[in-house]
This record gives sequence, C-alpha cells and structure tokens, in this order.
Amino acid sequence: MTDAPPATAPAPLPTPRGDRHGPLQPGDLVQLTDPKGRHHTITLVPGRVFHSHKGALAHDDLIGQPEGIVATTPSGVPYLVLRPLLRDFVLSMPRGATVVYPKDAAAIVGLADVFPGATVVEAGAGSGALTCSLLRAVGPAGRVVSFERRSDFAEVARGNVERFLGGPQAGWELVVGDLAHGLGAVVAAATAHRAVLDMLAPWDCVDAVAEALAPGGIVVAYVATTTQLSRLAETLRADGRFTEPEGSELLLRTWHLEGLAVRPDHRMTGHTGFLLSARRLAPGTVLPARRTRPAKGAYGEDYTGPRAAGGAEPGAPEGADGEPPGTRPARPVLP
Ligand SMILES: C[S@@+](CC[C@H](N)C(=O)[O-])C[C@H]1O[C@@H](n2cnc3c(N)ncnc32)[C@H](O)[C@@H]1O
Repeated sequence: MTDAPPATAPAPLPTPRGDRHGPLQPGDLVQLTDPKGRHHTITLVPGRVFHSHKGALAHDDLIGQPEGIVATTPSGVPYLVLRPLLRDFVLSMPRGATVVYPKDAAAIVGLADVFPGATVVEAGAGSGALTCSLLRAVGPAGRVVSFERRSDFAEVARGNVERFLGGPQAGWELVVGDLAHGLGAVVAAATAHRAVLDMLAPWDCVDAVAEALAPGGIVVAYVATTTQLSRLAETLRADGRFTEPEGSELLLRTWHLEGLAVRPDHRMTGHTGFLLSARRLAPGTVLPARRTRPAKGAYGEDYTGPRAAGGAEPGAPEGADGEPPGTRPARPVLP
C-alpha cells in the first residue's frame, strides 16, 4: 500500500501535531486498522490519498472527523480510524536499535518514579521509544538528556520522537556521544534526578551516573541477559555510592475473551528484559552492612565479577574475610 501524494504539486508535510485529542487535523498520525487487524499508520495531509490493494481512502474524508470512525473504501473494505497510542507507534515506527517494549517502558517510568519537572538522563537513545515515554512523564517543565553514540541511530530517534510528540521538544537534548565520557559536560554534578540506561554495557556508565545524580536520585537499567544483570548489580555494589540494587522483570500475559472461552492467550512474549534499580546515596554516606548472608557460593571461586573492597576472596568460606558471616563491607570501592 502507498500513501500517495496528490496529482498536483506535492504539498509540504504539515507540522506534526502533539495534540492527541479532538477532531482529526492535518499533521495528525492516524492508524487505519483493516478487518484482519493489520495496522497502517499515516500522517494526514490535505489532498493526499491512502492506497492499498483493498482500495483508497482520501485523507480529506478523515480530516475533521472524530477518532473511532469506520471509513470504507469504494470497494467496501472498512478501516477503523484511530490515533495510534504510544505503544502502537513504538511497535510500528522505524527502528535503528531494538526498542524498549511498551510494558517495560511503563515499568521504567514507574520504577524510576519520573515526575513532572524532573531532569532525566538517558542512554542510549536508540530508536527513541523510551525517550517518548520519558518526555511525556517529565512534561513541559522537565528536561531529558539523551545520549546516543551512533549518529545514525540518533537521527532515527530524533525522527521518531518528533513525529510522535509533534515536532522539536524544548525539554529534550539529544547528544551524539558516549554517556560514560560526555555526561559531565552536559549535566552538572549532582543535578540529575533520574538516570535510565538501556545499553549493552551499563556498568561502564556507573561512575558518570553517580556523579550526575543528586542524592536520592534513581538509576534504572534495562538489560537483556542475566550476566548483564549480575555484572551491573555487582558494579553498583562495588561502587559504594548506591543503595542495594533491586532486580525484577515483567511478564505480560494477554487473555482471550469470548463468551465462556475466557483464558490466557496461547502465545506470549516470554522475555524482553530485566530491570535493575538503585538510589544514589548522599556524599560520604556509608551504607550499613547487610545483615543477610549471601547464598552459599555466591562469591565462591567461580565468581570473577566486580568485588567490593574487603569482600571474601574466591573460595573463602563466608565470614573468612573478618566480617560477620553474610555482611557486606561498609564502604566498598571498585577493584
Ligand atoms: C537497545 S538500544 C536503546 C533503545 C532505546 N532505549 C529505545 O527504546 O529505542 C541501545 C543503544 O545504546 C547505544 N549505546 C550503547 N552504549 C552507549 C553509551 N555508553 N553511550 C551512549 N549510547 C550508547 C547504542 O548505540 C544503541 O543505540
């Protein structure tokens, strides 16, 4: 299918609109859903015509209409007309890097407790999916600083964010570069409220994030594998400037709802990513020693990851480092 321009001189694309209510206007994103549930996302342009093998729909027939109408092609195929939700847009938008899935984006905003007016640091921007959620959550008084080290991905992110939110966003700075090395030049020390990391090696950014976060600030990371989860948790512990890291994951199971046939759907997305969060301690604060005993062998001879200063040596029985069994050294430093 195509979204064909008018036969006359091509009209410039109208400025995208961020408003997501009221009658449909030029510049609005609209999602057309065919009887098989397939989605087509178009931007409304006066004079333009949406074409598919099922027939054509004139944009002019949609402009001025409310959302939630059914528009029918001359061959009688009905399309449901609605503005796409952020979750629809994220799953259909152009991608550079893999996106944060909508269920996880919602959880990240909640776990990071992103509030209107907050300053949020993010890396990598990737395709801009999570950026859209963060910008919405901080609102017009907030600031989101997104780092992306690949310029091609940064352009994809910019395009997606501006297409969904309706043009350039005053509170958004997109920096092409590595957060680990560039954050200090953009965000003053101890001024960021939240930091969100979605990248292969978030542990490389722990020092920069610790510098940028205000006391009580939250870092949330989204990682795909248990090995990443473990390495990041231990790096945060060894750094010593954070509270105990907490890990979680979210499984979303959709349900089939039909008469008496009410049951979980047969298919679900089994795995997307793990979430890890921790809070920035005030400067000089020493986290009280943990009173719970690590699992037997947790830091045994096979463990080769980051290690808090004064921690048990590989293979040493718990408590052999002079600490009461199971306690964590009070002021760890990076190995
Ligand atoms: C999985 S993607 C992020 C997807 C993004 N959160 C979204 O929802 O669209 C990971 C991105 O992190 C970028 N990246 C990795 N390490 C980085 C770093 N240290 N600083 C900035 N960007 C980084 C990569 O180039 C990649 O585009």
